[in-house]
Formats: sequence, C-alpha cells, structure tokens
Amino acid sequence: MTERSAEAPSRAAPDGAALRTVGLSKRYGRTLALDGLDLLVPRGEAFGFLGPNGAGKTTVVKLLLGLAIPDAGQGCVLGAPLGDRAVRARVGYLPELFRYQPWLTAREVLGLHCALARIEHADRPEAVRNALATVGLADRADDRVGGFSKGMQQRLGLGVALLGPPDLVILDEPTSALDPVGRHDVRRIIHGLRERGVTVFLNSHLLTEVERVCDRVAVVDHGRVVATGRLPELLAGSRVSLRVTGLDAGRLASLERFGRVAAAEDRLTVDGIAPDGVPDLVAEVVRLGGRVHAVEPLQRTLEDRFLELVGPERAE
Ligand SMILES: Nc1ncnc2c1ncn2[C@@H]1O[C@H](COP(=O)(O)OP(=O)(O)O)[C@@H](O)[C@H]1O
Ligand SMILES: [Mg+2]
Repeated sequence: MTERSAEAPSRAAPDGAALRTVGLSKRYGRTLALDGLDLLVPRGEAFGFLGPNGAGKTTVVKLLLGLAIPDAGQGCVLGAPLGDRAVRARVGYLPELFRYQPWLTAREVLGLHCALARIEHADRPEAVRNALATVGLADRADDRVGGFSKGMQQRLGLGVALLGPPDLVILDEPTSALDPVGRHDVRRIIHGLRERGVTVFLNSHLLTEVERVCDRVAVVDHGRVVATGRLPELLAGSRVSLRVTGLDAGRLASLERFGRVAAAEDRLTVDGIAPDGVPDLVAEVVRLGGRVHAVEPLQRTLEDRFLELVGPERAE
C-alpha cells in the first residue's frame, strides 16, 4: 500500500490542497443544502467536517465525488475539477448509507470493488487480503455479507474505501454504526492512513471522534462553514477560571462585559473572554472587593466550541 501513496506528492495540486471549494451552493427543491461553502483541506492531514444533522455534510461529499452537480461555485479534488473521473479512482469513499449484495461474501465484495477501481488482476488477491486484515474481517472473509452485523458491514465499507490504495479517503459518518471497540479500530485505521501520507476527510456529527483523530476541522451549519482551523487554534483561549474570595454574588453584573460569567462558591468562570482581557478582569474583580487566589485558563472542548457556533438546539 505504501508505493502509490509515496508517489502522491508528485501528483499534488500546485497549491498542496487535497480539496478546495469556493462558493459551493446546492438546492434540493425548497431546501438550500449548501449556501456558498468555502473549504480548504491540506494534503496529508486528517480533516474533520463537523456539523449537526442536516447541515450539508453529505451533500458536500456528493459534490466532491461528482455524484451530484453544484448549482453554483466550484472546487477541485487532488488538483482536478469536481467530477473528474481519473481522480475518482484515487479517492476512497465510504458512503453514509450503503448496502452490499447480501449473497456475496466479504471477499467477493472487495474483489468486485477491485475490478471497479481497475486494480490489476494480479494485484487483487493481495489488495483484498490487506483490506480484510486492516479492518479486522480476515476471519469472516468467506461469510456472506447478508449475515453481517451493521458494525461488520461498516468495517467492510471501510475496507472498500481503502482499496486502490487511495490518495484521499472520504468517510461519511464512519463510526455511526460501531461499538466503542469498532470506533477505536476506525481511529487506528485513520492514524495509519495519515502516517502513509493519505488525506482523510471525515464527516461526522460525533465530536469526540473528530477531536481524537483530526488535525484540522471545519464546522458547517446551514450549508456554510462557520469556523475552520487546526484544533488547538479553534479551541484556544477565551475561557478563564478564577479562584476568588470576598466577592459579593450580587455585584457580578459589571463582569458581564468580559464574557459569560458563572460563579459557584469560590470559583468564577468567564467564557468567551478575549485573551488580553484577563488582566482587566482581574482588576475589576479586585475593584469589587474580591481577593484573587488563582487565575487559570481553561481548555475548551470541541463540544463547548461547537455549542457556541451552532447553538445548543442545533447540536441536539
Ligand atoms: N436528495 C435530496 N432531496 C431533498 N433534500 C435533500 C436531499 N439531500 C439532502 N437534502 C436536504 O439537504 C440538507 C442537507 O442534507 P445533508 O447534506 O444530508 O446533511 P448532513 O449530511 O449534514 O446531515 C437537509 O436539509 C436535507 O434534508
Ligand atoms: Mg450526512
């Protein structure tokens, strides 16, 4: 699997992007699924595409793969325009919803997809063996897919997406049907792909999944990217916790200008504060008669940030 991915940089887009879209829009009847979506996914990273149900994630994937046509906007995948057929062969894809022919065995399904991916005849048995081993289905290779659990079918789908081997893998909700062990395996597979220089585009509404495997994320809502960046950048700053005594709970109103204030016993937490606002916050607390024992920046989780961006009612 290493040889082709090692070649990948020579086939890179000139700007090094694995994916790029500009102003992508798509309407289904009266539903505006995408509303001018701009996206940039650098090569060789695991990229999390995150958003509540109905945000437009699957629609983006369909446009990237040429399975649907945008109403407006453009994009490129591995340096070629959307829908380019030669590039499609270098992209592995795990659809959100799929069903393999139940009468086929796992090995047969993979063999069929080797043919569809135009893998050389002589290379197919090894490609199938590697895929089965990677997704942990080697001992079920000759069982019919009809008898597989949802989780096993999802693993098989992932195996199909790894045939090629691809330079870019697009996974649409890959862990939605998996138990914790299965989710752990998917994370391991994604790490392995990234180590080989493969770009992974992971669609998910599961925040912890994305937080654990992705270098960079974009949050999408109502068909638009509302935030994007490396995870540490996206989660940086803007939350501080103070240990304070002597502060009258009735006098906290003047702190609201720094951010959302929560006070409990000797803890005062301010959310959404600008990094250079902390000294002024401390000064104000002292002015109100508080004694400040400690000032601690708090690491926000992706969930905190997600809730800020899309609102609690959208995040379910
Ligand atoms: N084929 C379709 N026909 C009609 N509406 C659709 C179709 N596909 C998606 N939509 C609508 O477009 C919006 C975005 O859907 P989708 O991209 O599937 O969201 P996500 O994958 O983020 O859950 C939703 O409102 C959905 O109902
Ligand atoms: Mg979806």
